[in-house]
Amino acid sequence: MGFYENHILPRIIDSACSTKPILKQREKIVPQAKGRVLEVGMGSAINLPFYNADNVEMVWGLEPSEGMRLKAAPRLSQSAFPVEWLGLPGEEIPLDDNAADTVLLTFTLCTIPDFAKALEQMRRVLKPGGKLLFSEHGSAPDEDVRKWQDRVNPVWKIFAGGCNINRDVPRLLKESGFKIESLDTMYLPGTPRVAAFQYWGVASER
Ligand SMILES: C[S@@+](CC[C@H](N)C(=O)[O-])C[C@H]1O[C@@H](n2cnc3c(N)ncnc32)[C@H](O)[C@@H]1O
Repeated sequence: MGFYENHILPRIIDSACSTKPILKQREKIVPQAKGRVLEVGMGSAINLPFYNADNVEMVWGLEPSEGMRLKAAPRLSQSAFPVEWLGLPGEEIPLDDNAADTVLLTFTLCTIPDFAKALEQMRRVLKPGGKLLFSEHGSAPDEDVRKWQDRVNPVWKIFAGGCNINRDVPRLLKESGFKIESLDTMYLPGTPRVAAFQYWGVASER
Protein backbone atom coordinates (compact mmCIF):
# COMPACT_ATOMS: atom_id res chain seq x y z
CA MET A 1 0.00 0.00 0.00
CA GLY A 2 1.27 3.42 -0.93
CA PHE A 3 1.26 6.75 0.88
CA TYR A 4 -1.95 7.83 -0.91
CA GLU A 5 -3.95 4.70 0.12
CA ASN A 6 -2.64 4.67 3.69
CA HIS A 7 -2.71 8.36 4.57
CA ILE A 8 -4.49 10.58 2.03
CA LEU A 9 -7.49 8.48 0.93
CA PRO A 10 -8.51 7.55 4.52
CA ARG A 11 -8.61 11.28 5.39
CA ILE A 12 -10.70 12.11 2.32
CA ILE A 13 -13.15 9.25 3.00
CA ASP A 14 -13.35 10.05 6.72
CA SER A 15 -14.18 13.66 6.02
CA ALA A 16 -16.67 12.91 3.18
CA CYS A 17 -18.45 10.39 5.44
CA SER A 18 -18.67 12.74 8.43
CA THR A 19 -20.82 15.55 7.05
CA LYS A 20 -23.81 16.58 9.18
CA PRO A 21 -26.44 15.01 6.87
CA ILE A 22 -24.50 11.74 6.76
CA LEU A 23 -24.12 11.67 10.54
CA LYS A 24 -27.91 12.08 10.72
CA GLN A 25 -28.32 9.04 8.47
CA ARG A 26 -26.10 7.04 10.82
CA GLU A 27 -28.24 8.10 13.79
CA LYS A 28 -31.29 6.54 12.12
CA ILE A 29 -29.81 3.07 11.77
CA VAL A 30 -26.73 2.30 13.90
CA PRO A 31 -28.46 2.43 17.34
CA GLN A 32 -30.62 -0.54 16.26
CA ALA A 33 -27.60 -2.89 16.23
CA LYS A 34 -27.52 -5.51 18.97
CA GLY A 35 -25.66 -8.56 20.20
CA ARG A 36 -22.64 -9.70 18.21
CA VAL A 37 -22.36 -7.27 15.32
CA LEU A 38 -20.48 -7.57 12.04
CA GLU A 39 -19.80 -4.16 10.52
CA VAL A 40 -18.79 -4.63 6.89
CA GLY A 41 -16.33 -2.02 5.58
CA MET A 42 -15.95 -0.39 8.99
CA GLY A 43 -13.72 2.32 7.53
CA SER A 44 -12.55 4.87 10.07
CA ALA A 45 -15.15 3.63 12.60
CA ILE A 46 -17.34 6.75 12.42
CA ASN A 47 -20.31 4.61 13.47
CA LEU A 48 -18.82 3.60 16.83
CA PRO A 49 -20.28 6.45 18.93
CA PHE A 50 -23.73 5.83 17.39
CA TYR A 51 -24.06 2.25 18.71
CA ASN A 52 -26.23 1.71 21.76
CA ALA A 53 -23.53 0.22 23.99
CA ASP A 54 -26.14 -1.32 26.33
CA ASN A 55 -27.31 -3.63 23.55
CA VAL A 56 -23.99 -4.50 21.90
CA GLU A 57 -21.85 -7.42 23.06
CA MET A 58 -19.02 -6.90 20.58
CA VAL A 59 -18.31 -5.74 17.02
CA TRP A 60 -16.29 -7.42 14.32
CA GLY A 61 -14.98 -4.60 12.16
CA LEU A 62 -14.34 -6.01 8.72
CA GLU A 63 -12.09 -3.59 6.83
CA PRO A 64 -9.62 -4.55 4.11
CA SER A 65 -7.76 -1.22 4.04
CA GLU A 66 -4.89 -0.89 6.49
CA GLY A 67 -5.03 2.90 6.08
CA MET A 68 -8.68 2.99 7.14
CA ARG A 69 -7.96 0.75 10.13
CA LEU A 70 -5.16 3.12 11.20
CA LYS A 71 -7.49 6.10 10.84
CA ALA A 72 -10.03 4.28 13.04
CA ALA A 73 -7.60 3.65 15.91
CA PRO A 74 -8.46 6.71 18.06
CA ARG A 75 -12.20 5.88 17.90
CA LEU A 76 -11.55 2.23 18.78
CA SER A 77 -9.54 3.24 21.83
CA GLN A 78 -12.69 4.96 23.19
CA SER A 79 -15.11 2.15 22.45
CA ALA A 80 -17.38 0.99 25.27
CA PHE A 81 -17.39 -2.61 23.91
CA PRO A 82 -14.76 -4.86 22.30
CA VAL A 83 -14.04 -4.35 18.60
CA GLU A 84 -12.13 -7.03 16.72
CA TRP A 85 -10.65 -6.26 13.32
CA LEU A 86 -11.11 -8.64 10.40
CA GLY A 87 -8.64 -7.40 7.79
CA LEU A 88 -10.33 -8.95 4.77
CA PRO A 89 -12.83 -7.86 2.12
CA GLY A 90 -16.57 -8.52 2.40
CA GLU A 91 -16.31 -11.23 -0.23
CA GLU A 92 -14.29 -13.35 2.25
CA ILE A 93 -15.88 -12.96 5.67
CA PRO A 94 -13.82 -15.17 8.02
CA LEU A 95 -16.64 -15.99 10.47
CA ASP A 96 -18.67 -19.15 11.15
CA ASP A 97 -22.18 -19.54 9.79
CA ASN A 98 -24.81 -17.85 11.99
CA ALA A 99 -22.16 -15.95 14.00
CA ALA A 100 -23.74 -12.49 14.01
CA ASP A 101 -26.98 -11.10 15.44
CA THR A 102 -26.63 -7.96 13.33
CA VAL A 103 -24.80 -7.08 10.14
CA LEU A 104 -24.27 -3.34 9.68
CA LEU A 105 -23.62 -1.90 6.24
CA THR A 106 -23.21 1.86 5.91
CA PHE A 107 -21.91 3.57 2.76
CA THR A 108 -20.02 0.43 1.78
CA LEU A 109 -22.10 -1.59 -0.69
CA CYS A 110 -21.22 1.07 -3.28
CA THR A 111 -17.54 0.14 -3.01
CA ILE A 112 -17.49 -3.66 -2.78
CA PRO A 113 -16.41 -5.01 -6.19
CA ASP A 114 -18.23 -8.39 -5.98
CA PHE A 115 -21.29 -7.19 -4.08
CA ALA A 116 -23.28 -10.38 -4.82
CA LYS A 117 -20.63 -12.58 -3.24
CA ALA A 118 -20.27 -10.23 -0.26
CA LEU A 119 -24.05 -10.19 0.34
CA GLU A 120 -24.12 -13.99 0.13
CA GLN A 121 -21.41 -14.05 2.83
CA MET A 122 -23.38 -11.61 4.99
CA ARG A 123 -26.42 -13.88 4.73
CA ARG A 124 -24.29 -16.88 5.68
CA VAL A 125 -22.94 -15.30 8.88
CA LEU A 126 -26.24 -13.75 9.95
CA LYS A 127 -28.16 -15.85 12.50
CA PRO A 128 -31.73 -16.90 11.66
CA GLY A 129 -33.83 -14.00 12.91
CA GLY A 130 -30.83 -11.63 12.71
CA LYS A 131 -31.03 -8.25 10.98
CA LEU A 132 -29.05 -6.58 8.26
CA LEU A 133 -29.12 -2.82 8.94
CA PHE A 134 -28.24 -0.68 5.97
CA SER A 135 -27.73 2.98 5.12
CA GLU A 136 -26.39 3.36 1.61
CA HIS A 137 -26.48 5.76 -1.32
CA GLY A 138 -27.39 4.58 -4.79
CA SER A 139 -29.42 4.92 -7.96
CA ALA A 140 -31.98 7.73 -7.97
CA PRO A 141 -35.68 7.27 -8.85
CA ASP A 142 -35.69 10.24 -11.27
CA GLU A 143 -34.72 9.27 -14.76
CA ASP A 144 -32.77 12.45 -15.51
CA VAL A 145 -30.68 12.04 -12.35
CA ARG A 146 -30.16 8.34 -13.05
CA LYS A 147 -28.91 9.11 -16.56
CA TRP A 148 -26.30 11.45 -15.08
CA GLN A 149 -25.33 8.86 -12.49
CA ASP A 150 -24.63 6.33 -15.25
CA ARG A 151 -22.65 8.90 -17.24
CA VAL A 152 -20.56 10.12 -14.31
CA ASN A 153 -20.00 6.77 -12.58
CA PRO A 154 -16.97 5.51 -14.56
CA VAL A 155 -14.99 8.67 -13.71
CA TRP A 156 -16.41 9.05 -10.20
CA LYS A 157 -15.26 5.53 -9.33
CA ILE A 158 -11.66 6.39 -10.15
CA PHE A 159 -11.54 9.42 -7.87
CA ALA A 160 -13.76 8.09 -5.07
CA GLY A 161 -11.88 4.97 -3.99
CA GLY A 162 -13.98 2.57 -6.12
CA CYS A 163 -17.37 3.98 -5.02
CA ASN A 164 -20.29 3.52 -7.47
CA ILE A 165 -23.11 6.08 -7.38
CA ASN A 166 -25.62 4.09 -9.40
CA ARG A 167 -26.26 0.81 -7.55
CA ASP A 168 -29.89 -0.14 -6.94
CA VAL A 169 -29.55 -1.08 -3.27
CA PRO A 170 -33.00 -2.69 -2.64
CA ARG A 171 -32.74 -4.72 -5.84
CA LEU A 172 -29.27 -6.02 -4.90
CA LEU A 173 -30.47 -6.98 -1.42
CA LYS A 174 -33.54 -8.80 -2.77
CA GLU A 175 -31.55 -10.59 -5.47
CA SER A 176 -29.18 -11.84 -2.76
CA GLY A 177 -32.03 -13.46 -0.83
CA PHE A 178 -32.73 -10.75 1.74
CA LYS A 179 -36.26 -9.73 2.62
CA ILE A 180 -36.59 -5.97 3.12
CA GLU A 181 -38.56 -5.31 6.30
CA SER A 182 -38.35 -1.52 6.21
CA LEU A 183 -37.03 0.94 3.68
CA ASP A 184 -36.81 4.73 3.59
CA THR A 185 -35.37 6.92 0.87
CA MET A 186 -34.55 10.56 0.22
CA TYR A 187 -32.13 12.90 -1.49
CA LEU A 188 -29.51 13.95 1.05
CA PRO A 189 -29.74 17.72 1.60
CA GLY A 190 -26.78 19.86 0.57
CA THR A 191 -25.37 17.22 -1.79
CA PRO A 192 -25.36 17.25 -5.60
CA ARG A 193 -28.35 15.09 -6.64
CA VAL A 194 -26.14 12.82 -8.71
CA ALA A 195 -24.59 11.46 -5.49
CA ALA A 196 -27.36 12.20 -3.01
CA PHE A 197 -29.97 9.46 -3.14
CA GLN A 198 -30.13 7.52 0.13
CA TYR A 199 -31.64 4.16 1.06
CA TRP A 200 -31.83 3.03 4.67
CA GLY A 201 -33.66 0.27 6.48
CA VAL A 202 -33.71 -3.25 7.84
CA ALA A 203 -33.49 -6.57 6.01
CA SER A 204 -33.56 -10.17 7.12
CA GLU A 205 -33.10 -13.60 5.58
CA ARG A 206 -35.99 -14.70 3.39
C1 LIG B 1 -17.04 5.02 1.86
S1 LIG B 1 -16.20 4.01 2.98
C2 LIG B 1 -17.40 3.81 4.27
C3 LIG B 1 -16.81 3.38 5.55
C4 LIG B 1 -17.80 3.12 6.69
N1 LIG B 1 -18.68 2.00 6.40
C5 LIG B 1 -18.60 4.33 7.03
O1 LIG B 1 -19.84 4.24 7.09
O2 LIG B 1 -17.99 5.38 7.28
C6 LIG B 1 -16.19 2.43 2.19
C7 LIG B 1 -15.36 1.42 2.93
O3 LIG B 1 -15.46 0.14 2.27
C8 LIG B 1 -14.19 -0.48 2.34
N2 LIG B 1 -14.11 -1.52 1.32
C9 LIG B 1 -13.55 -1.45 0.08
N3 LIG B 1 -13.64 -2.63 -0.54
C10 LIG B 1 -14.28 -3.47 0.32
C11 LIG B 1 -14.64 -4.83 0.26
N4 LIG B 1 -14.41 -5.58 -0.81
N5 LIG B 1 -15.27 -5.36 1.35
C12 LIG B 1 -15.51 -4.61 2.44
N6 LIG B 1 -15.18 -3.31 2.55
C13 LIG B 1 -14.58 -2.76 1.50
C14 LIG B 1 -13.22 0.66 2.12
O4 LIG B 1 -11.91 0.32 2.54
C15 LIG B 1 -13.87 1.76 2.95
O5 LIG B 1 -13.41 1.75 4.27
